[in-house]
Amino acid sequence: MNIDIESPTIKLPRIKILATGGTIAGSAAKSTQMSEYKAGAIGIQTLLEAVPQIKDYANITGEQLCQISSNNITDDIWLQIADRVNAIFQAGDTDGIVIAHGTDTLEETAYFLNLVIKNEKPLVLVGAMRPATAISADGPNNLLNAVRLAGNPEARNKGVLIAMNDEINGAREATKTNTSHVSTFRANELGYMGYINNGEAFFYRASLRKHTLNSEFSLKDLVSLPYVEIIYGHANDSRILVDAAVNAGARGIVYAGMGNGSIHEKAEEGLIAAQKQGVVIVRSSRCGAGTVKGGPIRYSKEKFLTGDSLNPQKARILLSLALTKTDKLDEIQRMFNEY
Ligand code: SIN
Repeated sequence: MNIDIESPTIKLPRIKILATGGTIAGSAAKSTQMSEYKAGAIGIQTLLEAVPQIKDYANITGEQLCQISSNNITDDIWLQIADRVNAIFQAGDTDGIVIAHGTDTLEETAYFLNLVIKNEKPLVLVGAMRPATAISADGPNNLLNAVRLAGNPEARNKGVLIAMNDEINGAREATKTNTSHVSTFRANELGYMGYINNGEAFFYRASLRKHTLNSEFSLKDLVSLPYVEIIYGHANDSRILVDAAVNAGARGIVYAGMGNGSIHEKAEEGLIAAQKQGVVIVRSSRCGAGTVKGGPIRYSKEKFLTGDSLNPQKARILLSLALTKTDKLDEIQRMFNEY
């Protein structure tokens, strides 16, 4: 469904909202239900009706791209979203785009778009932790803030942004850190990019890693993404899931290792065998903070790559996009050092 909300002045920024579902569009039977609700139940029209003030800040057009709970996101949906975003920006009549998205995989969609969108205009992802029907729902104010951020020239060329809870996060660093709190998105030690105060954005830092216009990744002629699996390391681990991933046709495996990307010796046996068959192995960490850059020399001799400070779910995205360009290990490691 496409909608237009005309604002009285033509000087307002032209913002497109793409709705995909999530808790921001969630509906529960009672206003006191915060965790028992249907995500993605409400369409974009109703979402916007909850924030009539939006037309004071932007000329809005909206599209419903899908209506899902974001734990069900797929590569196909990502390719559709990215194609649509690139097409809207190319058309030249939009100043910024807001994507309303479930928070569960919001960081992954944001990082994927950060790598494949070819424009410096603001692209802001927004979600909510409480359904639209809840007392004190956080969605309406988050949406208003996201629209204002997308219309703010200072948000240009900073990569894909996440606006929630009056905080601005960057797509590369931010991660969902809490199952239910509205302050769930954080970039751990690297910190917020900025704050939103009384609806106005204040930036303090930007990511130095490559994104959007400087990214070498492109969706041109791409109809699917290479299959990359994540294996989560743990005490008493084995090679069972590694072998299963290889048998299922994985071209890459991100091992979410213990501590500094350490691998259980049993899983390591499987990863060595996988690497010998041409599967690209990237060590990452389940710690949630810090980098995986070095580690025992043995791992580099085994030709395992390192995932830098990307968490496993983002390392999976970068590895998948890297495999669309090359299978040379040095090149893929360079990408992990740059993005
Ligand atoms: C979802 O990710 O779609 C559900 C959870 C949320 O949006 O907070």
